Amino acid sequence: MFPVTRLRRFRRTAALRDLVRETRVDVRDLVFPLFACPGSGVEGPLEGLDGIAQRSVDRLCDEAEEVHALGVGAVLLFGIPEEKDEAATGAYDDDGIVQQALRAVRERVPEFVLLTDVCLCEYTSHGHCGVVDEGEVVNDLSLELLARTAVSHAEAGADAVCPSDMMDGRVGAIRGALDSEGFEHVPIVSYAAKYASAFYGPFREAADSAPAFGDRRGYQLDPGNAREALRECELDLAEGADALMIKPALPSLDVLAAARARFDVPIFAYNVSGEYAMVKAAAARGWLDERQAAVESLTAIKRAGADVIVTYWAKEAARWL
Ligand code: PBG
Repeated sequence: MFPVTRLRRFRRTAALRDLVRETRVDVRDLVFPLFACPGSGVEGPLEGLDGIAQRSVDRLCDEAEEVHALGVGAVLLFGIPEEKDEAATGAYDDDGIVQQALRAVRERVPEFVLLTDVCLCEYTSHGHCGVVDEGEVVNDLSLELLARTAVSHAEAGADAVCPSDMMDGRVGAIRGALDSEGFEHVPIVSYAAKYASAFYGPFREAADSAPAFGDRRGYQLDPGNAREALRECELDLAEGADALMIKPALPSLDVLAAARARFDVPIFAYNVSGEYAMVKAAAARGWLDERQAAVESLTAIKRAGADVIVTYWAKEAARWL
């Protein structure tokens, strides 16, 4: 008790604070999202995601090489296809945009960890994450397409696939398809607890994937529910998920901490586009210090229990940390 106990003693100097810091963000645990688009020499900056661009495969390779050289642990690939249709053909096309990007980046930076987002929303004309019939997103019909997408990513060289669609049973369907095609060594990082969140706004513009009608509340989690999120995690693990992803990160730190306490698999957290954009926008107006706010955000996500953080700050963080 005071005056014997004084917690300020270890806070007195930067060196003392550094010595006893419990949580550190390591650039090797960060994942940088990359957006592949058609064409060559294309680098299209994204409004709402300052510093992030859609890139054609040639430019994407340059970016991947730079990110790898900075020590960032992995990249997570998203694709913006030339054309979209009802069946999301571009998602599982052997020569689709993500498949092309995987082959090219693999050749340029062979040892870099390449993760892919497995979803249909960037490839469907209506922007939903599954097949639509009579205005409904049909669960079971979507599974086969998701499984084909995951297999085509594995064939093109993905180190792990990350299903983000929130269909029931997708992890089992993907595991079965990967195993029967000889990809039993490819892990599944399941976006198990993915909330229907307003914080994906800037991403949807970047990936051109906003739903043309309705919203995603019929398949993504209700933000009011934490126990249900843990059931999602449990089911995905039972279906064969190798790691879990919690998303969005900062609005779900309670779920992240609960998942950390309950499950011993690697846990990823996605520090999503809206979390990044809010800080960028405030910093641009001089309302807060971007670097401090970003490092504090990443530290909080780690402290809550994330092993790996997907973040648009990965590249800048590599210089800051
Ligand atoms: C695809 C997907 C989304 C994000 C990652 N994968 C969008 C969504 O579900 O609407 C969001 C990422 C971000 O906001 O940074 N389904």
